[in-house]
Amino acid sequence: MNLLLKNIKQLLTLKGPECPRTGKELSDIGIIKNALLYIESGRIKYFGKESEVIEKIMDKKFEEIDADGIVMPSFVDSHTHTIFAKPRLKDFQMRTSGMSYQEIKKNGGGINRSVEDIRNSTKEEIIGFSLKNLKRFIECGTLSLEIKSGYGLDFENEVKILEIIKEISNKSDISIFSTFLGAHSLPPGFNSSKEYLDFLKEKLIPYVSKNKLASYADIFCEKGYFGVEESMDYLEFAKKYGLKPRIHAEQLSKFGASIVASKVGAVSADHLDFADEEYIKLLKKSSTVATFLPASNYFLGLEKFPDARKFIENGNIVSLATDFNPGTSPCWNMQFVISLALTHMKMKIEEAIVSATYNSAYSLGISDRVGMIDVEKDADLIIMDVKDYREIGYYFGDNLNKVSIKKGVKVYDKNSAF
Ligand code: NIG
Ligand code: FE
Repeated sequence: MNLLLKNIKQLLTLKGPECPRTGKELSDIGIIKNALLYIESGRIKYFGKESEVIEKIMDKKFEEIDADGIVMPSFVDSHTHTIFAKPRLKDFQMRTSGMSYQEIKKNGGGINRSVEDIRNSTKEEIIGFSLKNLKRFIECGTLSLEIKSGYGLDFENEVKILEIIKEISNKSDISIFSTFLGAHSLPPGFNSSKEYLDFLKEKLIPYVSKNKLASYADIFCEKGYFGVEESMDYLEFAKKYGLKPRIHAEQLSKFGASIVASKVGAVSADHLDFADEEYIKLLKKSSTVATFLPASNYFLGLEKFPDARKFIENGNIVSLATDFNPGTSPCWNMQFVISLALTHMKMKIEEAIVSATYNSAYSLGISDRVGMIDVEKDADLIIMDVKDYREIGYYFGDNLNKVSIKKGVKVYDKNSAF
């Protein structure tokens, strides 16, 4: 069915060049006030000032939505660990009693606790839980989502997670992109990271590639997880199997993952809390997207956040994501991430909006279709219940999204949700 969105107080088109937005262009959100937007066959057909669009659709048949708010591209969340079996409430209790993320790991918590949970849960249980979480993303306005494996850490359970990702992507209204993160942590039963990475290279990467279970490979390159040289070797190996590299970089320390990212040409380097000028320059040179995940800093109660301004001033491609996971970021709401980017990373609201939509779409290779409002783009849109886009970063802790539209179809409507 064709669809007309009317009474749009502000239409954020983000219209501009078909390339990632950097520097000053990162602030360009292409606002049209009092706009209409018309969708045909799931794609944007006409948009603009009311008077201009009205003429073009006079003899068309369509459904109408009275937006009475702002319309913008839906959020693209390019870094999540959505497939886990249970929340890590015991870890959280340990932390609220004063333990750090690293201390919790030493005391039997951390990633390996989620690994145990996945191994002890059936596919059906995990699918049921995950579909519920996907609904939350859709309600909050995210309609394209990257999901990493990484809580299986053996052949059977990593494959189980990747198959679940495939299955839920057929059952859900959200577009899903899959990343193989077998190299998330050293699981019990292996004596060294080398032994484990050799196992991944021999058994899992060829299988994942052959069965098209993932588009990307990721590694947690960090002290106590995987080293710089071995991460480089591992991602180069994955590349030969068609898995494009992404990397967890400089999250807990300045460790050298940015050097890996720039050498292997990673699509995205994520976290970057401890990236300094040298690393910022390296990442710019390799055109690696710098993805910031401030909800994990918030949840870990950290004072330090990534220095987004330095990246932006240096002309790097920047992006924002939730890092949704049971250990460091149980948050599916990109609106909260935007709010943190403003209050803790000195980003401007316009920069944060572009980073959470068009630039994150670029990092997933889909910016030719989503993240910008233009003729013939996919109609992946949200209607925010505000009059002025600046309210998005201002009111926080709530869901301001009232309608999610995926390829021209309304998949969430706050008014009929309950
Ligand atoms: O991005 N850094 C590694 N991975 C996740 C945390 C995973 C967990 O604690 O379960 C992150 O923060
Ligand atoms: Fe992560």
